[in-house]
Formats: sequence, structure tokens, C-alpha cells
Amino acid sequence: MPGLVDAAVDLSVRLGDLVLANPVMPASGCFGPELADLVPVHRLGAVVTKTVFAEPRSGNRSHRLGESAHGMLNSVGIPSRGAREFVRSGLPEYQRLGVPVVVSVGGLSEREYWEVAEELAGTEHAALEVNVSCPNLEHGGATLGSDVAAVRRVVAGVVARTEVPVLVKLSPDLASIDAAARAAEDAGAAAVTVCNSFPSLAVAAETRRATLGNGTGGLSGPAIKPLALRLVWQAAQAVTIPVVGCGGISTAHDVAEFLVAGASAVQIGTANFARPFVMTEIVRELPALAERLGVTRLTDLVGTLSF
Ligand SMILES: Cc1cc2nc3c(=O)[nH]c(=O)nc-3n(C[C@H](O)[C@H](O)[C@H](O)COP(=O)(O)O)c2cc1C
Repeated sequence: MPGLVDAAVDLSVRLGDLVLANPVMPASGCFGPELADLVPVHRLGAVVTKTVFAEPRSGNRSHRLGESAHGMLNSVGIPSRGAREFVRSGLPEYQRLGVPVVVSVGGLSEREYWEVAEELAGTEHAALEVNVSCPNLEHGGATLGSDVAAVRRVVAGVVARTEVPVLVKLSPDLASIDAAARAAEDAGAAAVTVCNSFPSLAVAAETRRATLGNGTGGLSGPAIKPLALRLVWQAAQAVTIPVVGCGGISTAHDVAEFLVAGASAVQIGTANFARPFVMTEIVRELPALAERLGVTRLTDLVGTLSF
């Protein structure tokens, strides 16, 4: 009896003080509130906003998207209407969706992250996700997240300016994901999200030019799933706070793989572009999958990997 199976499986997860009805949420930048007319968004564990910067900024020049075998390249460059305008007109659109809202916070300097957190203080949202994959323009444009001390400072500053749990979304392009995850934990993060897209390059041999307008871009989709799984597993060994897995997830079975590797929840990005219903389909399929895998609480899968 399918109804009984559903009722018997507990899908809920906890990320610090943030309790979600199920572990599935969109990855930042890959799902907007405009899709609520099409997709039953209220069935998701949470929604995550596009990364918000303090000041308005346009994205990178075109082309911004490219295809690759089993993956996609993007150099969108995170356009943002700025934190003040986001609070006025963007956040209410997310609040209407009826699920916890995680606001993704960006910055091109350490101070900019704190300014976004200050602008959001006192507004209604369930959590922040600090996207430390942004270029740090004070240090030559290298990814802020590649500097462990900078991660610690940025996260501590955001934690000090908010009352909600703070997730920290790590770049995969690090000497040590362990050190970055530990820095986030030491600074008061409630969870780490692992990971953002992988730095990559597409070349048009005919024109001798990079295909993306920005030159390099981020690789996402099924091509990065095994890479992300390894980083999730490694980060989960390094910290005691929960890990949110992200990278190439497109099926309920993929979700289970990330949980076994050590993730407590997951984010789904690229798969939404081809199939906007993918996240809610996965939520629907998780109870039956959990039953097949012999657990009545989805969290019983978390970190059960052995070699
Ligand atoms: C078009 C596009 C836009 C994105 N924008 C953001 C963003 O604003 N902030 C962020 O943290 N990650 C952003 N990402 C990265 C995704 O959130 C996710 O970490 C990455 O794509 C890996 O997951 P996936 O393989 O499921 O797509 C973006 C990815 C894509 C493809």
C-alpha cells in the first residue's frame, strides 16, 4: 500500500536549528520563484535563492552557457539587483512559496558579504548560504574560498550579523576541502554545502577562442557527480556539522548515494533546466527508495559508506 509506505518513512532532516521536511532543495541560481506556477514547490525541503550581492551588478558577457558531455558550462557571473532591492522585491516572491527560504549571500570583498547579511537582518528567511566561490577582488580575483583564513573571517562576520543558521557553500577548486570545511565550522557555520561548479574551459578550435564570453566557466551536471561525491565524503570526515551535497544529482538514487557518502541534505541544479519537475519527482520517489534500501528514516543512510 503506497500510502502506508510514505507514512512509514521519515524524510525530515536537521541542519543546525533548521529542520526541513525532506532533504531536497534547488541549488542556488538554478531555480526561481517564477517556476512555482509549474512545479509544486511547497513539496521541497527548502528553496535557495540566486546569490545576492550588496550592490547591483550585471553578469558576464555572452556566451554564458555551453554544453559538454554529460554536463553544462556556465559563466553567468551572478547578476544581482543588489541586497536592498532583493529585500524589497525579490525576497517576498520566495516567501510566498510556503517553504523555508535559504538566501545565498555573495561578495567581491569580505565586507560585502557582511553588508548583505546586515541588509537581510530582521527579514523573514530560514537560513543564509554564504557562497565563498566568488572572486575576491581585494586579492587579485582568486576565489575567496581558496583562502582558509578569509573563509573563517567572512563566515564569522556573517554569523555575527544574523540570527538564522549559516550554511557555507564551498568551491571544489581547493587545495584541501577539509581545511575549508573546518574553517567554516570553527567560524560558526551550521552546515557546509559541497560543492559549487568546477572551473572549466571550452575551446572553439576554428576561431582559436574560448567559447564562453568570460573565458572560463563552471562545469555542472552529471559529469561532476563522482567528483562531488568524493568531496562530500571527504568534508563529512572533516567536520561534525552536516554536509549538504550538490553536484550532478538528477535522480532519487543519486540523492541516496550522496546521503551514504555523508550528506544530510542535497541541492539540485542543472537537472532543473531540462526537467523542472525533477526535484518534486525525487521527493515523491524517496520513501519507496528508502524502503528498498531498508531504512525507515532517510537520515539512517547518512554517512554509512564503507570500503
Ligand atoms: C546557470 C547556473 C547558475 C548558477 N548560479 C549560482 C549562484 O548564483 N550561486 C551559487 O552559489 N551557485 C550557482 N551555481 C552553481 C549551482 O548552484 C551548483 O552548485 C552547481 O551547478 C553544481 O550542481 P549541479 O551539478 O546540480 O548543477 C549556478 C549554476 C548554474 C548552472
